[in-house]
Amino acid sequence: MKTPTRHTVTAALPYANGPLHIGHIAGAYLPADIYVRNLRQRGKEVLFICGSDEHGAAITMRAMKEGTTPRAIVDKYHVLMGQAFQDFGIHFDIYDRTSSDLHRETSQGFFLKLLENGAFNVQEEQQYFDEVAEQFLADRYIMGTCPSCGNPDAYGDQCEKCGSALSPKELKDPRSTLSGAKPVLRPTRHWYLRMDEAQQWVDSWINTGVLDGQPHHDPKEWKASVLGQCNSWLKDGLRPRAMTRDLEWGVPVPLPGAAGKVLYVWLDAPIGYISATKHWAALRQAQGQPTDWEKWWKADDTRLIHFIGKDNIVFHAIIFPILLKMHGGYVLPQNVPANEFLNLEGRKISTSRNWAVWLHEYIERWPHRQDELRYCLATIIPEQKDSEFTWKDFQEKNNSELVSIIGNFVQRVMVLCHKFYEGKAPAPGTATPDDLTLWSAVHGNAEEVVRAIDAFRLRDALSAAMNVARAGNKYLSDNEPWKLVKTDPDRTRAILGNSLNVAAALSTVLEPFLPFTSERLRRMLRIDAAPWADALRSDRIGPGHVLGAAEHLFKPITDEEIQPEIERLHANAPSEAPPAAAPGATDGSPDGRSKPNISFDDFAKLDLRVGTITAAERVPKSDKLLKLTIDLGEAAPRTVVSGIAMHYAPEQLPGQQVVLVANLEPRKMRGVESQGMVLMAEDASGKLVFMQPKDVVTPGGEVR
Ligand code: 2FM
Ligand code: ZN
Repeated sequence: MKTPTRHTVTAALPYANGPLHIGHIAGAYLPADIYVRNLRQRGKEVLFICGSDEHGAAITMRAMKEGTTPRAIVDKYHVLMGQAFQDFGIHFDIYDRTSSDLHRETSQGFFLKLLENGAFNVQEEQQYFDEVAEQFLADRYIMGTCPSCGNPDAYGDQCEKCGSALSPKELKDPRSTLSGAKPVLRPTRHWYLRMDEAQQWVDSWINTGVLDGQPHHDPKEWKASVLGQCNSWLKDGLRPRAMTRDLEWGVPVPLPGAAGKVLYVWLDAPIGYISATKHWAALRQAQGQPTDWEKWWKADDTRLIHFIGKDNIVFHAIIFPILLKMHGGYVLPQNVPANEFLNLEGRKISTSRNWAVWLHEYIERWPHRQDELRYCLATIIPEQKDSEFTWKDFQEKNNSELVSIIGNFVQRVMVLCHKFYEGKAPAPGTATPDDLTLWSAVHGNAEEVVRAIDAFRLRDALSAAMNVARAGNKYLSDNEPWKLVKTDPDRTRAILGNSLNVAAALSTVLEPFLPFTSERLRRMLRIDAAPWADALRSDRIGPGHVLGAAEHLFKPITDEEIQPEIERLHANAPSEAPPAAAPGATDGSPDGRSKPNISFDDFAKLDLRVGTITAAERVPKSDKLLKLTIDLGEAAPRTVVSGIAMHYAPEQLPGQQVVLVANLEPRKMRGVESQGMVLMAEDASGKLVFMQPKDVVTPGGEVR
């Protein structure tokens, strides 16, 4: 294993098909940002790469849904996501995009080199074709019943219920996601990556860390979940995988006779990391700083790290390494720190159901409070298992940790220095055992921050950083300088001098997690950022140093501020999203979508009835909500607020029969009392459709 001299850190390229939510941030981008910030503090050479993934079904389907072009979709979301990252303090060296010319050239060149190296088998075969949409159907364009678990909504590449990797022909009762049509078979030709040939070296590389007979990395440093997913693929045997598709949107296959074919999105997307690096180097070059992009990918003392969510594991830990090795000349990742998923208020985050906290909206509603969210998310990074964000926890962590621990310490030190010494730092004097205990706590915790970050234990790292503030608070409380000043002014000076330097150290250990706060704290202390080791010195702020004004770093968050967030979440969600699986739930569903069994008595408590919509109107000031009037055969009609305004115009609804949960506790949404809930299902395109009786039923008819 080479000692690394530089680090190439990538964060998964998010699909440019919608805004970023807190699940994305906690899963990949915040962990990567914390890691990179700390490496930089320690003087390491780092390149931090990200960008928008602008190809694939995620984009084209969104375009179809919004009735626009893929180009319009990626242009819109690329800008929105790039801005949100920037505003949230996640600063990549470059935030690139895969629809650029440079990316097209790079990925086509990569493909041709693979071809030259014999990495592909060309296969003529029959594939499913949608005669209505006039398109071959692969991946997410085709659905059917999973042969392993019977899930009727499995996709052509994967069953999200049991996690099986699938090919379209394995699906039972296939149907087109585009038109719903039953597909027919038609001949086509594709380039298959000979992954089967890589079985042996991938197995040895993943499980022993040995590559080409040389130690490459320590597999004990990889997460069990990453090794587990890789080994499950290896156990089934790696199979050739098509690297081309019959589609219009994507990087064209650069070969004669391949018109209408593009590269598979999971071939072009990770190459996006490489084209982004080239683009970054070209921009530096243009600024008069000649830069060699290749060393970041090809020098064997480069440490390549991919931050991703768990759904991206095999692509980064098996397929991309095979591509890099078959191409030749590239380093392989030293680690692929993948995180699990973040749930929200007890439920899975869902874009189509609008059950999410959108980053750009948070930034808008909570201006200058980025670190409050960064802090809360960093404490719940789903490192080992799925975790959960709640607004109450966000409030609680702000009030009892940020305000009470960090804010309180800094405030006390600053106020006392202004009060006793006119805002000038006092001299620390000779160290007492108490002072030595304080500094040993500071240094011990700072060392743990580094150890934990290097091991991708970012939650532990944050907790160690907070211990520095806790040590400072304890030191103040034990020594009570506000009382001591009357009897022992010399010792008081020493205590406050030490405390100021602990505050300075705090600005350093907190920086990876709370960069905005660290900067404010440094401004208050009137110090510059310094390299990690220097920044932890006990004499960084010397006697006579002039301090800035004392200001509060954090302010308490009230119930009045939090409650609207909870209400907004419920009001904007078209229907309640499915609950998240309890941690460690064993309901056989890897995605946590199945719910545990309930008793018949529980079921019998539901009063489900058929009703007829008699009127519908928009709820003022809401994009999502419609107010429905529903005839249930009762004396008065029911008013039901339903989050379907994105899916139906009010005039489409009168006359429709629906199934209603008629005994749901009434709830106010946007000031309107909703007296029940309309049952809906999500179709393959994410549209919500009514659960309706096939024949007309008298309003009030019971559903049993
Ligand atoms: O899952 C996703 O959002 C993908 N767009 C990640 C791609 S990562 C890399 F390969 F580009
Ligand atoms: Zn399945």
